[in-house]
Amino acid sequence: MTDDVLGYHGKRVIVSGCFSGMGEAVARALLGLGAEVHGLDYKQSALPLSSFKLTDLRDPTSIESAVAAIDGPIDALFNCAGLAGGGAFSPMDTLKVNFIGTRHLTECIIPRMPAGSAIVSIASTGGLGWSQRVPLHMELLQTTGFQEATAWAEAHLTDVAEGYGFSKEAVIVWTQYRGAQTIKRGIRINCTLPSPTQTPMMAAFHQTAGKAVVDAAAEPLGRYTTPEEQAGGCILLNSKLASVVNGSVLPVDGGFMGALAMGQIDLSRLMPQ
Ligand SMILES: NC(=O)c1ccc[n+]([C@@H]2O[C@H](COP(=O)([O-])OP(=O)(O)OC[C@H]3O[C@@H](n4cnc5c(N)ncnc54)[C@H](O)[C@@H]3O)[C@@H](O)[C@H]2O)c1
Repeated sequence: MTDDVLGYHGKRVIVSGCFSGMGEAVARALLGLGAEVHGLDYKQSALPLSSFKLTDLRDPTSIESAVAAIDGPIDALFNCAGLAGGGAFSPMDTLKVNFIGTRHLTECIIPRMPAGSAIVSIASTGGLGWSQRVPLHMELLQTTGFQEATAWAEAHLTDVAEGYGFSKEAVIVWTQYRGAQTIKRGIRINCTLPSPTQTPMMAAFHQTAGKAVVDAAAEPLGRYTTPEEQAGGCILLNSKLASVVNGSVLPVDGGFMGALAMGQIDLSRLMPQ
């Protein structure tokens, strides 16, 4: 099919976090691209999906039964579910949804993926400190399964801190590390770094970090992005056009990361007053 340049037509895809925000926008766009879309969330989705299963990423049994309920090979996974942390949710709940449960979901799905499949997770600039503590994150990565990772985190609560930053660092480190392994089976894994985006989660960011700090991270674009703009980055990464893009961390931010690297962002505005 010549007009299916992204290659989603007839493909079986799973979207976590499809109730609202970026996940909802991803699922909606994939329906429009002709994919067979299966949604997971702990809140009921209103979209006309091929299937939807109430799934709590804080619970490994819930994750496993959700994956078991979907038949056949799985061509793409979109890890869009997340919690804001920062005191809005407990550190362990935040880490479980954003990393431990997300990794468990992914590892349950990888054996069902044929060569040519792809995985994308939504990370965050909140995880930019990852390079400062790779050895610590490698310890977490060496745990196998949900329970072992949870036990490791409970023994490292000081490092987990408020939960969000640590969880997003873990997603970035895991993505870059795991890509070198999955590509041997022809499976790609990448993640995105969104700039501030107008979704239901934004209220929690304003409350925890403060609106002025969030606004500073919206430069140089000068506005928050839309869930649809973020969905575009995820859909591009998991598409056949990105066939050798793997283990990468893609900013979807109107130029924030480039401007940060070039010293064009006022760092003092990024610090909570
Ligand atoms: N909005 C932003 O500015 C921003 C910036 C950077 C990164 N992110 C990340 O983008 C991703 C999507 O967030 P969003 O902004 O669309 O917010 P959102 O709150 O609209 O979406 C999060 C989704 O995750 C689901 N979810 C939460 N806990 C769950 C659980 N226990 N089990 C299953 N599903 C659960 C929610 O129901 C919701 O559908 C998150 O990982 C978030 O950290 C957001």
